[in-house]
Amino acid sequence: MQINFVKSEVPDEGTLVVGTAETELPSGLLSDLDKQAKGAIARAMKAARFTGAKRQVVELLAPAGIELDRLLIVGLGKADKLDGGAAESLGSSAVARLLTSGEKTVTVLLPKADAEQAARVAQGAVLRSYRFDQYRTTQKKTEKPTLVKVNIGTSDPAEAKKAWRTNEAVANAIFYARDLVTEPPNVLHPEEFAKRVRKLEDMGLEVEVLGVKEMTKLGMGSLVGVGQGSVRESQLLVMQWKGAKNKDAQPIAFVGKGVTFDTGGISIKPAAGMDAMKYDMGGAAAVTGLMHALAGRKARANVVGICGLVENMPDGNAQRPGDVVKSMSGQTIEVLNTDAEGRLVLADALWYCQNRFKPKFMVDLATLTGAIRVSLGLEIAGLFSNNDELAARLLAAGKAEGEELWRMPMGERFDKMIDSPIADMKNIGGAFGGSITAAQFIQRFVNKVPWAHLDIAGTAWFEEARGSTPKGASGYGVRLLNRLVADHYES
Ligand code: BES
Ligand code: MN
Ligand code: ZN
Repeated sequence: MQINFVKSEVPDEGTLVVGTAETELPSGLLSDLDKQAKGAIARAMKAARFTGAKRQVVELLAPAGIELDRLLIVGLGKADKLDGGAAESLGSSAVARLLTSGEKTVTVLLPKADAEQAARVAQGAVLRSYRFDQYRTTQKKTEKPTLVKVNIGTSDPAEAKKAWRTNEAVANAIFYARDLVTEPPNVLHPEEFAKRVRKLEDMGLEVEVLGVKEMTKLGMGSLVGVGQGSVRESQLLVMQWKGAKNKDAQPIAFVGKGVTFDTGGISIKPAAGMDAMKYDMGGAAAVTGLMHALAGRKARANVVGICGLVENMPDGNAQRPGDVVKSMSGQTIEVLNTDAEGRLVLADALWYCQNRFKPKFMVDLATLTGAIRVSLGLEIAGLFSNNDELAARLLAAGKAEGEELWRMPMGERFDKMIDSPIADMKNIGGAFGGSITAAQFIQRFVNKVPWAHLDIAGTAWFEEARGSTPKGASGYGVRLLNRLVADHYES
């Protein structure tokens, strides 16, 4: 999608999208157009019961008296709340409507079109245009995207272009993360994931990949156990972005669950819906996407990204319910359910991370529990943390980027639910509080360092398109983490 920033003017032809705050009447440039159209626009708005509520759309085709082929009037919400989110929703609404409409070019105008607002329109437009078509060999003409160019009106095109350059780096990173999540699990297994990420060295990232031999030597029995039933070798992916002035300054760290397919293992999942478990690497995709974004916009921070990449399969060599494994921390784990594998992967990845890098803090992201979908639904991710400041910063970043979090409780009363009679802990709690006992498990592998865990099982995949995210892989977490870094950890 090609983005251009132009002076706010009504084009002579083609398609025009006009963002309008809550109003009953055509105002601003719409009132001029309405005069040329002899009141047809006001009549259409009335007939459609247009109020200007966010994402409401009225579409006029070939309106008489105007040269335009198509006029889209899009609601922006309350006039005193025309924030970045409203601008972004204008861009995404326009693209949702026009991507496969036959139109090639569109001009988007909005009331308060400063550079920042215009860049947010671009962000909404681009993010909503995401497609994953590489495995289709036949596609009807009407299914193919036609829209290639979006002109966005602004008072300051040069500034808008500058503001967009940052947003664009993030959008590219989100596309990268969505691609990883959408790729089928026969293609994107742990080795392929690592191989693709190695190519990001071209952007200035440092990438290392540890195989099973190295992980076994480090004592990572917990992570290695999960992948032992798979013919694909487990991998530990270590990425570093050294963007701070002092390359040796203490980094911040992000850790992702990268189960490229989760059958459940010997504790096998039911057949219905199992295909969804290709997105069980959504945490790893978000962490990798973040590293892509940081390199893309040359962030002035030292950041470590670590992903535990495994495939959880049933097999003659797979681990059994009842097995006891030893983690790199030295703690032993009774694996009572092989489907509670994400925490086993994170245990060793987090331990390795804090020992090797001594980071300021660690944030892990994981599609960890079905239970978080039950408690918070599919639009908000669960936040667990041992540190109020880090938690507050994450909550604020999520709010700003439209990737919301809700903080969940932790504590001794939950922690004791994972005590095992024969080992240091078991990998499942009881029937209740499943997301919390999972978080408590992870916390047992975190020393004094500030830490937060985001359970993104509900948000990594959208069942329906919403806002700037088409149906499917959301890339959830990339924006949120990028905002956290930008707002607090850059020099
Ligand atoms: N990957 C799943 C969690 C999940 C479920 C992610 C639905 C996305 C959508 C995880 O590995 C899992 O299987 N968790 C179990 C834990 C249980 C065995 C304690 C669960 O949530 O049922
Ligand atoms: Mn599982
Ligand atoms: Zn899983």
